[in-house]
Amino acid sequence: MIKVGLIGCGFMGGMHAACYKVLENEGVKVTAVADVRPEFAKKLADMSGADIYATGMELIEKADVDVIDVCLPTHLHAAHGIAAMKAGKDLFLEKPVCLDEAEMEELLKVEKETGVKVQIGQVIRQSAAYIWLKGVVDSKEFGAVRSGQFRRLSGYPDWAWENWLHTPEQSGTVTVDMHVHDADFIRYILGEPKAIQSMANRDEAGVIQQIFTQYDYGNGVAVTAEACWDYPVEFPFCADWVVKFEKATAQLKDGVVTVYPKAGGSYAAELPAEYEGENDIGGNVSDLGGYYTELKYFIEGLQGKNDLSIATLEEAIKSVKLVKAEVAAAGGAVKK
Ligand SMILES: NC(=O)c1ccc[n+]([C@@H]2O[C@H](COP(=O)([O-])OP(=O)(O)OC[C@H]3O[C@@H](n4cnc5c(N)ncnc54)[C@H](O)[C@@H]3O)[C@@H](O)[C@H]2O)c1
Repeated sequence: MIKVGLIGCGFMGGMHAACYKVLENEGVKVTAVADVRPEFAKKLADMSGADIYATGMELIEKADVDVIDVCLPTHLHAAHGIAAMKAGKDLFLEKPVCLDEAEMEELLKVEKETGVKVQIGQVIRQSAAYIWLKGVVDSKEFGAVRSGQFRRLSGYPDWAWENWLHTPEQSGTVTVDMHVHDADFIRYILGEPKAIQSMANRDEAGVIQQIFTQYDYGNGVAVTAEACWDYPVEFPFCADWVVKFEKATAQLKDGVVTVYPKAGGSYAAELPAEYEGENDIGGNVSDLGGYYTELKYFIEGLQGKNDLSIATLEEAIKSVKLVKAEVAAAGGAVKK
């Protein structure tokens, strides 16, 4: 039985706890949880009878666990990830890895020195519609990619502990927090762009709330990505894309992927099966889908059933670096 210590019992911690509950029959169990808000820790501890620790660092120091899963606000990722690896624990670290370049280097160094297994929560690499897209890009079933558009739009996220999501030094803004999903996925399917152009839409304090980036892949092949998180709170979360290939165009809309071959005769793509349960922990995404798939993959990696190559630390760091370059191109995270 793989014993997991889950640190951070807010929105994402709740999502992970719900997934581990379903995965208990795969040989994994949350046996320790930590949160500085005791009532949040208790709610998740009650799901699996886990021990409760007052802080993440206390859990890493004292709990008898094999794995540390870090679902903390982003500015706390690196310190906890490094401490966990140094304690010899395998590590699941939520995205975005961290914000600071020195911390990125330290994470990579400690990963290498300790030899522990690490996966980053770049969840859309393991979400059905995106797995399908990666598959057809790699197989060239529709020829080469000619262009793409990716969007990730959300009502204003208002649940975060001490408003860390809207504190630019803690979250990195909508860019590093939300847009990193698409930037990472675009790199995953097409590699590093030759050039980028970015523009930002800001609030009264000058903080980026919406970003538009164009990634140039040469020969007229361009991909655009947009992320926004200051639509009114009731605005339903949506993530979609359109990708034009040489022989067809594919679109993800409302969770359905439709293929439009050039020759006509559109059809719904058959997506890989995904776990369909939900959690009730709040936040702007409720179904377990990709979260279940990524954690199952992580556990199977620890059991030696895969090589954990899908969402590595090194890859996730490259994606944050790309987004940081976009933010710089757009004039900085905060601009008065
Ligand atoms: N993969 C995804 O799709 C996705 C979606 C949302 C959030 N995230 C990421 O997950 C992470 C957490 O985000 P969230 O929305 O769950 O935030 P949140 O504010 O809901 O939860 C964070 C929790 O950490 C706790 N905490 C703070 N300091 C602590 C400490 N020292 N020790 C123990 N607990 C502490 C807080 O009390 C809070 O409950 C972030 O990095 C975020 O970017 C990923």
